[in-house]
Amino acid sequence: MDFKRELEGIREAGLYRSLRRMESASSRTVRVEGREMLMCASNNYLGLADHPLLQETAMEAIRRFGTGSGGSRLTTGNTALHESLERELAAFKGTEAAVLFNTGYMANVAALTALVGAGDLILSDRLNHASLIDGARLSRAEVQVYEHCDLDDLEKKVSSAREGSMSTREELTGATALDEGDSTRGSQGRYRRILIVTDGVFSMDGDIAPLPDICDLAERWGADVMVDDAHATGVLGAKGAGTADHFGCQHRVAVQMGTMSKALGAEGGYIAGSREMIEFLINRARPFIFSTAQSPAVIGAVLAALQIVQSEPERRESLLRRATRLRNEMLAAGFDVLPGETPILGVVLGEADRAVAFARELEAQGVFAPAIRPPTVPAGTSRIRLTLTAAHTDEDVGTITDAFTNARQALSTHAL
Ligand SMILES: Cc1ncc(COP(=O)(O)O)c(C=O)c1O
Repeated sequence: MDFKRELEGIREAGLYRSLRRMESASSRTVRVEGREMLMCASNNYLGLADHPLLQETAMEAIRRFGTGSGGSRLTTGNTALHESLERELAAFKGTEAAVLFNTGYMANVAALTALVGAGDLILSDRLNHASLIDGARLSRAEVQVYEHCDLDDLEKKVSSAREGSMSTREELTGATALDEGDSTRGSQGRYRRILIVTDGVFSMDGDIAPLPDICDLAERWGADVMVDDAHATGVLGAKGAGTADHFGCQHRVAVQMGTMSKALGAEGGYIAGSREMIEFLINRARPFIFSTAQSPAVIGAVLAALQIVQSEPERRESLLRRATRLRNEMLAAGFDVLPGETPILGVVLGEADRAVAFARELEAQGVFAPAIRPPTVPAGTSRIRLTLTAAHTDEDVGTITDAFTNARQALSTHAL
């Protein structure tokens, strides 16, 4: 492969990516390559990534269990800490059980490759995260993409998948397709299993999937629902447990996936659901079986994070209030902010070059929020993805809006 030429092509398309070096913990501010800046793009939503309690419990876990787990969960790497976190997560999510994975990416790939296969159908929202897309591809199930949060399109697809065969869950021989282990095509339908897969909060747009409506549809047509709560865990819901908690439909979602790498301030992923499904994943999910268990430090940190999420609801309340304020101020200043009610604000700027130039202007003013370009977002919708965390202040909201206004002014005079 001619890497030099490939890289030139990437550069010419305005899509070249390079690494930026953080030189401090990432909180309200961060030191980037020698300069202190306001961090406006981190997923550390509750500001827990440098919280003293997480640090202390992580260190305590290291003192008791060491720095490495030394094996996969099914061989020698399963500690009392891992099991304790799984119990806590299940209680938090309101499910019978939960299982940990090393990253959120791995949790999605693990769930999709284990739970569906050849002869099954995945219906996937057009804006789903790359890890869901990759998991769906690897699963060997047929994949159909429905338009973003478009219930009519979803219903059209699920009904036509069931057409000419059994049409509702009542007509299925088993109650929940996902409770069964094998992936053979059923004798009564075009697809044995249909799994509707959606982000809870869409990572680049910040909007929330209409989960109760998706569950209605799934129940009508004998499908199951999987929700990726990477950006909702700790942020949405009466107890901060995510999208299903937000809508009160925990018991209607068969597969609840989440990450510990964002609001929970550490890293890792999990799947929560029925005890049988979790047992099945432990037996069949290759990323679980063939990877070393997470390090004790991470587990210790997440145990502390879960306590804080549940005992300090004011963190997410002030975060959401401030995000609404930022959204309103940005809209009032004339920016094209995608609709939503979460701490993720997609400020759409158009072509990749413009988004990159915008990010540079913001950075010159001490605001760190990199440009997001294809393939992360569709062509022509390059943007700045702004995020707030519980560590930001009301004053920061004004600083960000002013920086955007100044950047727009600077770019209009330089004529892009
Ligand atoms: C929606 C979504 N799902 C899954 C992931 C993967 O999670 P992790 O970073 O923990 O691997 C991410 C983010 O990276 C995400 O935004």
